[in-house]
Amino acid sequence: MIVLGVESSCDETGLALYDTERGLLSHALHSQVAMHEEYGGVVPELASRDHIRRALPLLEQTLKGAGIAKGDIDAIAYTQGPGLAGALLVGSSVACSLALALDKPVLGVHHLEGHLLSPLLATERPDFPFIALLVSGGHTQLMRVDGVGRYTLLGETLDDAAGEAFDKSAKLLGLGYPGGPAISRLAEFGDPAAYTLPRPMLHSKDFNFSFSGLKTAVLTVVKNHDEKVIANICEQDKANIARGFVDAIVDVLTAKCVNALRHTGLKRLVIAGGVGANAQLRASLNAAADKRKFRVFYPELEFCTDNGAMIAFAGALRLERNPALATRDYAFNV
Ligand code: KG4
Ligand code: ZN
Repeated sequence: MIVLGVESSCDETGLALYDTERGLLSHALHSQVAMHEEYGGVVPELASRDHIRRALPLLEQTLKGAGIAKGDIDAIAYTQGPGLAGALLVGSSVACSLALALDKPVLGVHHLEGHLLSPLLATERPDFPFIALLVSGGHTQLMRVDGVGRYTLLGETLDDAAGEAFDKSAKLLGLGYPGGPAISRLAEFGDPAAYTLPRPMLHSKDFNFSFSGLKTAVLTVVKNHDEKVIANICEQDKANIARGFVDAIVDVLTAKCVNALRHTGLKRLVIAGGVGANAQLRASLNAAADKRKFRVFYPELEFCTDNGAMIAFAGALRLERNPALATRDYAFNV
């Protein structure tokens, strides 16, 4: 079965073709990051309009990459939510119109399920069950995963998501959008002893997170500078603050993962979502895995952030188990 995946929940238009026998056939992605950069964040109206412009050319590119025709597609999976309403509507319209024209069934996929299953696209795939840490721009969740569709939420953020904390702290340091990769790169040059920032909920007995206080701590450090103006903080000090922030957030994420593994007795940890691309987080989790004898699995770097492959894949896994999930009811449903 060949499944076309369509992702358009935020600022990436992603299309992909996944074959349940041959694996990922091809995928194409357009990131709108450059377009939103000057506004310091995603502008929803611009995002929707750009998805409209990109979707069909990316579809052609994906079909060409896979060497198949539209008629070879067996089902279409699209991101149903969560995400920006206008952006989601573009992806669902494209998916449903194409499915109607081709007389193929459609399936709405939960964006987070796409992220959650994306590490299974890698060469080294974890077996079920595992603990999953989902760290994206909009969500931070710890989950127990017993199989496709068998998810138990262990804990989540009570306020900001991890990616949001990265982006907002980066903004406070005058770094561009999205700030996650930028603050992470800057932190490499920072002195770990310069600033010790709070590690919110590190010792709470649950699996929840809270990152808004950490962002406020960054704000306080920035404001306490004599110069008062971020432009006047020297590069080394900015790097030191970045380092303080990254060390704090990585410590909390690592500790909660270790606690979840200990609590459930599981030995496999899966990381998914944009923050999963973070080098410091990976280094910390790898060190913890060595020390505590568990295994940690990551998606390929290109599938950490939003993409069509994870949606095609999640749709295919769902349909393999229950083909009746796909419908010929083409009413947009986002
Ligand atoms: O999963 P994703 O593409 O979108 C959502 O579904 O939200 O994640 C985007 C988030 C952004 O907050 C971005 O700053 C963060 O992932 N991110 C990173 C890195 N790469 C992306 N954060 C820290 N370090 C990175 N290398
Ligand atoms: Zn995402």
